[in-house]
Amino acid sequence: MRNQAADSLEGLARALEWVVEGADQGIQGGLMAESDKVFAGSIPKFYDTLMVPLIFEANAADMAELVAASSPGSVLETAAGSGVVTRALAPKLSAHARYVVTDLNQPMLDYAATRQGSDSRIEWRQADALDLPFEDASFDVVCCQFGAMFFPNRVAGYAEARRVLRPGGRYFFSVWDRIEENAFADDVTNAVAAVFPHDPPRFLARTPHGYHDVALIRKELSRAGFADIEIETREEVSRAPSARDAATAYCQGTPLRNEIEARDASLLQLATDRATQAIASRHGEGPVVGKIQAHVIVASG
Ligand SMILES: C[S@@+](CC[C@H](N)C(=O)[O-])C[C@H]1O[C@@H](n2cnc3c(N)ncnc32)[C@H](O)[C@@H]1O
Repeated sequence: MRNQAADSLEGLARALEWVVEGADQGIQGGLMAESDKVFAGSIPKFYDTLMVPLIFEANAADMAELVAASSPGSVLETAAGSGVVTRALAPKLSAHARYVVTDLNQPMLDYAATRQGSDSRIEWRQADALDLPFEDASFDVVCCQFGAMFFPNRVAGYAEARRVLRPGGRYFFSVWDRIEENAFADDVTNAVAAVFPHDPPRFLARTPHGYHDVALIRKELSRAGFADIEIETREEVSRAPSARDAATAYCQGTPLRNEIEARDASLLQLATDRATQAIASRHGEGPVVGKIQAHVIVASG
């Protein structure tokens, strides 16, 4: 009885810590808008055809290598989006591996499934990374590429990943570094801000590039119970056939589109044109190349 009461008190204390932590995150990053997590409508297609080749593919190849190196028998992917990691990782897993691929937004998973060849090892499932519909200790690996920034409470999201990991299992995930280290995202944010000077859309700075403090990431993983944490900062390059391709990707293939349309849908094209001019003026008229930088994290224990 006494143990049960102690467990309940510990659970209550942890829940309270998460509430406080969630409030801290809101204050530090600027509160995430509801529209920031909506990847639906025309976003999945634009995201996959324009954003993925621009900034996600190179990182996905690295993530797949990293995960596959531990030869996991079971993998849970959270915030899988349009499946760029899934496509890179599935061929590297053993013939008997179990691979459960999840995302909050069903339209992203639907799109991912259409791009994946038939593979009986893969199970597609809509799931919130903060409330996973899986038993404790059911996976060798949890992986999540560029999803944690969207979690309304990261400590709760990390604790949930840890809960479903088997003892000795590992959590692999990545987040973008600050926006100033990511050239096109910075150019687009500044250009679109000039179109709406009184209420600049800040999605890119606030959410994808709003969670880059390595000390905070360590602290939140520790609070979620992880004991061993490795973080590596990696620089890559982002390439697009033209400034317009890069600008269209950011303005129309991410929830930045939701923010622009909420202000004035008729200005989506003008905002994209201004972003195109900004990228072209800094990176040239032909094919463009810009720096991207991310943190890659492995947590266990
Ligand atoms: C930037 S995309 C990354 C997608 C994919 N991992 C990739 O690398 O292309 C972020 C994804 O997080 C998903 N997402 C947002 N909030 C989530 C949550 N609470 N749980 C699970 N997925 C979430 C979105 O639907 C979106 O697909």
